[in-house]
Amino acid sequence: MIRNLRGAKSVFCTAVVPAAGSSSRFGARNKLLADLDGTPVLIRSLLALQQTPEISAIVIAAPADTVDSVRSLALSHGITKLTAVTAGGATRADSVRAALAVTPDETELVAVHDAARPLVTPALIGAVVRRAQLTGAAIPAVPVKDTVKIVKSGQVESTPDRGTLYAAQTPQVFAEILLETALSLDHSGTDDASAVEAMGVCVHTVPGDYENLKITTPEDLDLARAILERRRACESDTATTSTASSKASH
Ligand code: CTP
Ligand code: MG
Repeated sequence: MIRNLRGAKSVFCTAVVPAAGSSSRFGARNKLLADLDGTPVLIRSLLALQQTPEISAIVIAAPADTVDSVRSLALSHGITKLTAVTAGGATRADSVRAALAVTPDETELVAVHDAARPLVTPALIGAVVRRAQLTGAAIPAVPVKDTVKIVKSGQVESTPDRGTLYAAQTPQVFAEILLETALSLDHSGTDDASAVEAMGVCVHTVPGDYENLKITTPEDLDLARAILERRRACESDTATTSTASSKASH
């Protein structure tokens, strides 16, 4: 029986992490194992999920020949919420389907998060999970900054109104049964929400975070390093200010 999640005090939400891509736009190496200030991209994504109170378990879809090494890597970095690593598939949707098949039985919500988004914060993950608890389907989205064109055969066909355009991010959170049903139907979209939308189900948005970028090409890694450096500078500013104010109050 499906529990009404709206009023429930705590809901079992499993993070589903597709990590079985081929990094073709990144170049020769696996972008998920690339070093990002001392920690691999994949591990930064997993640590954010590990540190989110709303996430109870984590399952990963990895390339078939790396399932054991990915499990060892995650465990060696303290990902204690990890319950399964399974072989991914040829497309992202195949990998998500494979991971959905190994979620713990108690799972009510699933938070699908790209392993390639290492800068997501526990605050954003928590906000999307809470929204999905109320609505059944929620995603983070940010207004696009560029003017976007529909282009066909090298010619501009039209210019959609930028005011209505948002870039979808992850984690995308759904009632598990809803996502399983949506992905069991024909699905060719590039995210999970589009499969749910195709069923006519309303997907709600929460404000995303421009820093929650997806590592796609090598310059994204440089951007991510710059963002981490700025976060560190902000943290040390805050620490200096709070030390100064606690000294002043003595
Ligand atoms: N992914 C997956 N299985 C696939 C394809 C993608 O698990 N068959 C995962 C990727 O590992 C990544 C996320 O889905 O964490 C988003 O995909 P993307 O950024 O496109 O990564 P890749 O598919 O690896 O990159 P590319 O498209 O450049 O090959
Ligand atoms: Mg891809």
